[in-house]
Amino acid sequence: MPLVKIHDKSFETYLSEETISNRIDELAAGINKDYAGNRPLFISILNGSFMFAADLFKRLTIEAELCFIKLVSYKGMKSTGKVVTSIGLEEDIFGKDIIIVEDIVDTGKTLHDFLPQLLHQQPKSLKIASLLHKSEATIYPLTIDYVGFDIPNKFVVGYGLDYDGLGRNLKEIYQLV
Ligand code: IMP
Ligand code: MG
Repeated sequence: MPLVKIHDKSFETYLSEETISNRIDELAAGINKDYAGNRPLFISILNGSFMFAADLFKRLTIEAELCFIKLVSYKGMKSTGKVVTSIGLEEDIFGKDIIIVEDIVDTGKTLHDFLPQLLHQQPKSLKIASLLHKSEATIYPLTIDYVGFDIPNKFVVGYGLDYDGLGRNLKEIYQLV
């Protein structure tokens, strides 16, 4: 299996393009069923989730809205423990069915800090879809309603996820060697 080098680190393939795609088919099927007759608003958290959000959204057969916000907590390979909103939410979410779209839940800090801000605006419902979950690393307990893959506590890149700005364009997900 060829290694990919990003900055100073080597990464090996962990989830293939096909594995990711098949799993997103399943997640979308679940959402189409659970939200039949409703019109949820998907809130995709930039930057990492853009690719997952696009692939998930394409598979929806229900009516749905999509918007993006930007929360930042990572620098290099570590969470800074501080979550900053750098592009805020413009939509009115009062009375709406909200689905948060994340690339990965690691410590849970990002969503733990952000969810109360959303709940304060009284959506009708609030669920979370995350492609990846490092459940071993999660410090702030969260219910993730739609999880793509539960992965070990190792740094990953690709399919939207970066290591210091690079690697987002990879079609597969790679794990640190
Ligand atoms: P949390 O706040 O610790 O749950 O981290 C959430 C954010 O950190 C994610 O949305 C990612 O942007 C980033 N992150 C966490 N783990 C990784 C990883 O293994 N690779 C790349 N980014 C990560
Ligand atoms: Mg992210």
